[in-house]
Amino acid sequence: MGAIRIARPEDAKAIARIEVETWRSTYAGMLPDRVLVNMSERRQTASWASFLRHRPEDVSVATATNGTIQGFGNCGTQRDSTIRFAGEVYTLYVAPDRQSQGLGRSILMSLFQRLVDTGHATALVWVVRANPARFFYERLGGQQIMHRPIPVGGQQVEAVAYGWRDLGAVLAGTAKSGDGLTGDSLN
Ligand SMILES: CC(C)(COP(=O)(O)OP(=O)(O)OC[C@H]1O[C@@H](n2cnc3c(N)ncnc32)[C@H](O)[C@@H]1OP(=O)(O)O)[C@@H](O)C(=O)NCCC(=O)NCCS
Repeated sequence: MGAIRIARPEDAKAIARIEVETWRSTYAGMLPDRVLVNMSERRQTASWASFLRHRPEDVSVATATNGTIQGFGNCGTQRDSTIRFAGEVYTLYVAPDRQSQGLGRSILMSLFQRLVDTGHATALVWVVRANPARFFYERLGGQQIMHRPIPVGGQQVEAVAYGWRDLGAVLAGTAKSGDGLTGDSLN
């Protein structure tokens, strides 16, 4: 059995590799080619290494039995003061050959737990509108709260925000429709 754990500084390279691999496989045709071609595992490794030196607790990784990292995500305080959601899931990526095995759900729940532990009762995530991953967030009870264009590589890309209004209830499995979790999504 694999596990979900807090990231360590030495995970930077594996995280960067998954990030670049999933960006290229997910966003081809959605984001400018130039952005995808110019991504660099080396630069992303340096960036994650720096992040992990300061805030490793904000990054969750899913590991296989042998310790290999198969997915990751990170979270923190929501960045737009005009939006009334406290926390934000900044990234969530599962390696292409490990998707649809429950890892994304487990990582998301770990990030929600981290947000609750750090005093954030609500959260949102931004998704490129054309990305089918948004149906994953709907499945996990996220409700569309707004949409707007975001600048990526010199182009405007339409993005959708999904929100959860009661992370505690989501984690407890007691969320009602409107809290950001419906039906049996967590059971
Ligand atoms: C989106 C992503 C994180 C989901 O993780 P995952 O491990 O593949 O998803 P899970 O296996 O945990 O799925 C949980 C549930 O969501 C559903 N689901 C997952 N992806 C879905 C999709 N694209 N459309 C509809 N439902 C989806 C699953 O069927 C599952 O439903 P269940 O409750 O009936 O079992 C992962 O597929 C991924 O990294 N995709 C590419 C990168 C990306 O777009 N990331 C998001 C950027 S904001």
